[in-house]
Amino acid sequence: MGLRIVPGTAGGPLATTIARALNTEPVTCELERFPDGELRPVVGHVRGLDVYVIQPTGPPVNDHLVELLLLLDACRRGGAARITAVIPYFGYARQDRRGRAGEAVGARVVADALAGSGAQRLIVVDPHSAALEAMCGIPVEMLTAVPALAAVLEPMITEEAVVVAPDLGAAKLAEHYASLLRRPVAVVRKTRVSGAAVHSEEIAGDVAGRPAVIVDDMISTGATIEAAAGVFLDRGGAPDVIVAATHGPLVDTAASRLGPLHVRCVLTTDSLAGGQIAMPALQVESVAPLLAEAISRLHQNRPLEDLLLRT
Ligand code: R5P
Repeated sequence: MGLRIVPGTAGGPLATTIARALNTEPVTCELERFPDGELRPVVGHVRGLDVYVIQPTGPPVNDHLVELLLLLDACRRGGAARITAVIPYFGYARQDRRGRAGEAVGARVVADALAGSGAQRLIVVDPHSAALEAMCGIPVEMLTAVPALAAVLEPMITEEAVVVAPDLGAAKLAEHYASLLRRPVAVVRKTRVSGAAVHSEEIAGDVAGRPAVIVDDMISTGATIEAAAGVFLDRGGAPDVIVAATHGPLVDTAASRLGPLHVRCVLTTDSLAGGQIAMPALQVESVAPLLAEAISRLHQNRPLEDLLLRT
């Protein structure tokens, strides 16, 4: 069975790099946009093939998500033998529970829609929560970019540096960074006030006089990092901060929030395949090698263990 990469419009440059690494050409796809906003993708030859549809579902999340669902359906109807949705950044992953009465569980809705449209397996990178796997009725390969990002961070930091989780949810991720970097961990207590506002007030761990590497799964508005850096500095942390997050949608106010912090580096990946705002000190590492390796191994039915997120 041959292997083919199907690029969604959000996966373009990433898909091209992955296809090149796998010595294949991306399948030719067209996307027609109707005047009323409807999308109509048309996928080239996939019959009998092992197909990987590359589409991060970053902003505009809903357009990219619907396009992905239609691409999956097109592959199924086109006779693909095996269909894997490669969603390096999984939009709606943060809606993994009802925070209050009346809310939906968006991650579950998206997971069901993906499986219902033809996806037989998902590949994601550092999802917001490992609970994503339990929400999906199909297998989910949760890859991690942490070792690649830690390798970039290693030469930038001193012995005294501390890895800071900006909230409890990031503590596991911070432990992974800390074990690779051989540095201690501190954890900030954060309360989310709204989609664009958080309140952080405590930090557990020894930060006095130390530089920080603040790590998170993603930076969206920058509110979480801004608040964590504020608490870190208030508690006597050294004014030397590096930020690392796998996903950088970097929307709205991210630049104006992070700019005044004078962080030495904002390290992220191309999991959204571009579209990030310009920001001082931004450094982007590619997840293409990680995704290409995972696709190659899945195609050959080889194990992924060392590429997977620690849960
Ligand atoms: C939330 O728990 C996530 O792990 C991130 O901390 C959060 O989504 C980042 O968003 P923002 O930059 O808007 O605070």
